Amino acid sequence: MGNIDTFAFIIHPLDPKADVARKYPRLARLLPVTAIHFLSRYWPPLLLSRIAGVRSAATGREVEGWLLACPITARRMLQLPPRVALRKIIQTGRLAERLGARILGLGAYTSVIGDGGLTVARALDIPVTTGDSYTVATTVRTLLEIGRQVGTVPERAVTAVVGATGAIGSACARLLAPRVGEMILVGRRKAGIAQVRQQVEALAAGRVRATTDVAMVREADLIVSATSAGQPIIHSDHLKPGAVVCDVARPRDVSPQVVRERDDVLIVDGGLVKVPGGVDFGFDYGLPPGITYGCMAETMALALEGRFEDYTIGKNLEIERIQEIERIAGRHGFRPADPRSFDRPLPQKHIQRVRRIAAQKAGPGPA
Ligand SMILES: NC(=O)c1ccc[n+]([C@@H]2O[C@H](COP(=O)([O-])OP(=O)(O)OC[C@H]3O[C@@H](n4cnc5c(N)ncnc54)[C@H](OP(=O)(O)O)[C@@H]3O)[C@@H](O)[C@H]2O)c1
Repeated sequence: MGNIDTFAFIIHPLDPKADVARKYPRLARLLPVTAIHFLSRYWPPLLLSRIAGVRSAATGREVEGWLLACPITARRMLQLPPRVALRKIIQTGRLAERLGARILGLGAYTSVIGDGGLTVARALDIPVTTGDSYTVATTVRTLLEIGRQVGTVPERAVTAVVGATGAIGSACARLLAPRVGEMILVGRRKAGIAQVRQQVEALAAGRVRATTDVAMVREADLIVSATSAGQPIIHSDHLKPGAVVCDVARPRDVSPQVVRERDDVLIVDGGLVKVPGGVDFGFDYGLPPGITYGCMAETMALALEGRFEDYTIGKNLEIERIQEIERIAGRHGFRPADPRSFDRPLPQKHIQRVRRIAAQKAGPGPA
């Protein structure tokens, strides 16, 4: 690729049938899902495509990259001993090195497994980022913006974070706490969630509650969901009228039934970013042209900035880094994507309809 700066990004199948079909349509048709999960462990790392045309709006420079697959399915990654999944992720990272990438981004569960990229970064010669800092920045921005569009004033909003002990969840909670009325932190483990509550309380404008009961999100106007549950944990009866959920988790945390059963709530796909220039991903991984995940966008923005260093690594994200990458990415022309819900555009007229229905259900408010 001459003297052009380069990056690589690792993805892996989330939906065993649909995602494997993107690379192997016949195999995906023939194999039962159980066989795909099983075989995925033994499949070698793959080069999926070359990514071209990522151009900085500030400098006009371009970077190019490679999209790689660590072919273990999401469910299998959770089942396997972390060292087995990590070995395959590192092998995929070595492929990035051989191709000449100058920085490597870890998509979806390749940063969830283990220690948030620390082991992978230690094993490789090129720098690594999970991309989680920019994912957090865009998620918080999207949540507050769509919230405003349905009439929620952030300073008065009850705001819940599901998966608040996680890397993305805890950072979202710390970023939101000074800006919203009240926080509800939802985790699986009492001790873990109590610890995060202490950190969040130190930054919060209002009351902070911690719970292991996901049903408590019923009190929330704004919700970020960022667990690695691997299956839906938020259902229709968990949401109040007018609630906005930014679902960052992949596989998603919100049940697709919610869209069919509730016309008074908004479920927004979290962490989506519009890439500057005329990007060509060379591979259909399920997003519309020009749009990618925050974690890949962070990797691209670091390459455009020439910051070839381990950037977001480990599970304890730093607020300063989140703010810095938002500035870097913004300068190069990355923007939160137009809102989408379950992979479909979320038009303004739909947002306004939800606003009207929710207001009718809430009845007349205080004078
Ligand atoms: N959209 C994007 O651009 C993007 C980018 C990166 C990551 N992601 C997705 O974001 C999610 C979180 O990533 P992360 O790096 O923050 O992961 P993480 O640090 O491992 O955190 C995961 C969190 O989920 C909780 N959890 C796991 N299983 C659960 C269950 N069954 N019920 C309730 N909570 C559960 C964990 O609780 P414990 O603390 O008790 O284990 C933890 O708080 C993943 O789904 C990942 O794929 C999306």
